[in-house]
Amino acid sequence: MSGYQIAAIVGSLRRDSFNRKLATAVARLGPADFTFKQLQIGDLPLYNQDDDTNQAETVKRLKADIKAAQGLLFVTAEYNRSVPGVLKNAIDHASRPYGQNAWAGKPAGVLGASVGAIGTSMAQQHLRNILAYLDVPTLGQPEAFIHAKDGLFDEAGNIGEGSRKFLQAWMDQYVAWVKKHAA
Ligand SMILES: Cc1cc2nc3c(=O)[nH]c(=O)nc-3n(C[C@H](O)[C@H](O)[C@H](O)COP(=O)(O)O)c2cc1C
Repeated sequence: MSGYQIAAIVGSLRRDSFNRKLATAVARLGPADFTFKQLQIGDLPLYNQDDDTNQAETVKRLKADIKAAQGLLFVTAEYNRSVPGVLKNAIDHASRPYGQNAWAGKPAGVLGASVGAIGTSMAQQHLRNILAYLDVPTLGQPEAFIHAKDGLFDEAGNIGEGSRKFLQAWMDQYVAWVKKHAA
């Protein structure tokens, strides 16, 4: 394979989202043969099973982007100790209609940043549960619960000095995970 396309799904629509910045910055730690594309989920309709036989164009786009990828990267906020509704909505859309789950078999990594000290750990645990059901092999270690605080990013938007070594090690494991499942 000449290169790896990664579909990055950010679980926050906030303009200045830490998680969007994290998804952008962590992608820069990837090797040259990895390309990260942040998928659009903010324009999806609310999931309604009645629409399964006539999915919206935005849903078809999401599913096509997932199918074109060799790996998934979830970078999520934590809302009320779980995954934000916008992320669950996107996951549900791409999992349907029954038997046409676009996520299945795609190797995934999970990251998250929050202003709270536990750094999205509960949202990530809930997300892992969902991904297990959807037959998504998800990197188990290292876990990455990122505390969004000053210095997380430098002025150029790269991962700041304090977290760079840890997140580079995370990325190295993630790359190996994707390659293992693509082989
Ligand atoms: C509805 C809502 C619920 C939240 N619940 C949690 C929570 O359970 N745990 C947590 O650490 N932070 C929580 N937060 C704070 C988020 O960590 C914070 O808003 C963070 O900036 C969200 O990520 P983002 O910057 O990518 O949007 C919550 C924020 C909102 C708006």
